[in-house]
Amino acid sequence: MTNEKILVLDFGGQYNQLIARRVREQNVYTEILPYTASLERIRDGHYKGIIFTGGPNSVYEKSSPHYNKDILNLGIPVLGICYGAQLLAYMLDGLVKTAPVSEYGKTEITLSSVAKLFKNVKPDTTCWMSHTDYIAVPPEGFVVTAQTKDCPVAAMENPEKGYYAAQFHPEVMHTPQGSDILRNFIYDVCGCSGEWVMSAFVEESIAKIREKIGQKRVLCAMSGGVDSSVAALMIHKAVGKQLTCVFVDHGLLRKNEGDDVERIFKGEFDMNLIRVNCEDRFLARLDGVADPETKRKIIGEEFIRVFEEEANKIGQVDFLVQGTIYPDVIESGVGDAAVIKSHHNVGGLPKDIALSLIEPLRDLFKDEVRKAGLELGIPDDLVWRQPFPGPGLAIRIMGEITKDKLNILRDADAIFRDEIKKAGLGRDVNQYFAVLTNVRSVGVMGDFRTYDYMLALRGVSTSDFMTADFARIPYDVLDICSRRIINEVGHINRIVYDITSKPPATIEWE
Ligand code: XMP
Repeated sequence: MTNEKILVLDFGGQYNQLIARRVREQNVYTEILPYTASLERIRDGHYKGIIFTGGPNSVYEKSSPHYNKDILNLGIPVLGICYGAQLLAYMLDGLVKTAPVSEYGKTEITLSSVAKLFKNVKPDTTCWMSHTDYIAVPPEGFVVTAQTKDCPVAAMENPEKGYYAAQFHPEVMHTPQGSDILRNFIYDVCGCSGEWVMSAFVEESIAKIREKIGQKRVLCAMSGGVDSSVAALMIHKAVGKQLTCVFVDHGLLRKNEGDDVERIFKGEFDMNLIRVNCEDRFLARLDGVADPETKRKIIGEEFIRVFEEEANKIGQVDFLVQGTIYPDVIESGVGDAAVIKSHHNVGGLPKDIALSLIEPLRDLFKDEVRKAGLELGIPDDLVWRQPFPGPGLAIRIMGEITKDKLNILRDADAIFRDEIKKAGLGRDVNQYFAVLTNVRSVGVMGDFRTYDYMLALRGVSTSDFMTADFARIPYDVLDICSRRIINEVGHINRIVYDITSKPPATIEWE
């Protein structure tokens, strides 16, 4: 992989992953380390530049995250952002104080066009501010390179030493020239040349995987989701039929989903894919079960059982592919920033499986996984697929699950998804689906009274799925969905749209 790396040193701010992604968008590889990482580790990382991130603290509090001053003597340029800017000032004996006026949100800023950080950046622009402290007096040797109405040192630099600081957040889109500013740091200050390109990453990864696997055999649990598909295809390109993918079709998938996965991966990509159709087996175990947690547990256990049975039939296997991505492995020295949701392991694999792991996506953010998928020739629709939970439609049917209910939900959900796509909203609404409630209500169709199911539609806007807002789907689109579902799907006579955000609701209903 590339030798050109930027380090994002994490002091606990909310935009830290975003900083890393923005740098990578400029074709430079980035790693995130917690501020607790040792100086030796940072020195041995051979970084071309270091970015101190934002964070929620005040530098002069005893308990706030600091770093050994020797980091500034490694000869590596440093850019401090927000808290990171204040920390840099504090480490070099500048003065940081509570600002008389806190700034929050879009703010007008004046930048010095002779500053190295602001080359080719318009001097009067806007930026995103979010701070209660500020740099009152810059350290010796620094020149002030930006001001706002309430912030006298909105940016400062000491080019001779390679120290740069911005009180605002260049990484967020509300700082329109933010990427130019980051680019100036990465390219002009740190001397990077932009070696990190997806096509090269994919090619190099395939070569490395091929070498690692040799003549051995590999197993992959394929769900049809983006991560497992991209991971599996990368391995397939490396070792072809030495890879066996097991696709457990539990009968709880969306309309045509199982067939699509089979058609694309077995048909188009000629992968060694075993589809195990076990709808009856899962439905038998779920018969009469209404409690959400029990459903999840049963599905999780059964999934592992089926997978193990299939793996045993295949015989000797040495490696197991996992679609782990970079946000899953970022170390956090800061509070409990990395919250892992236990329920996401439902549909996961046995923990004690005695195989070596291959995780080809370990270094990638989700948007990069999609880019890699496109590089590998995976169709657009699949690459942009929304997340789908392991327990599938079982947690979108309230109460007991039957074949009939599954069919009703599948048809309704397919219409909803079709209309969202037709309206061109497929990429704006991050997740959208139908839920079959167990509420029945009275309706009238023609001259007849009906007593049928209530269906709920759910659409959310979110960037991380940890919090979410309900999506503002236009009424006209909801109207078409409602009419089509009532007309084309039997046993539904009422449709509601879920207008709760997360929290307090979760995205899924069960
Ligand atoms: P919640 O409902 O917790 O969902 O707000 C957040 C995101 O996680 C997905 N989800 C799951 N994914 N196995 C999965 O692989 C699961 O058991 C599971 N439960 C929820 C959900 O679809 C949403 O994207």
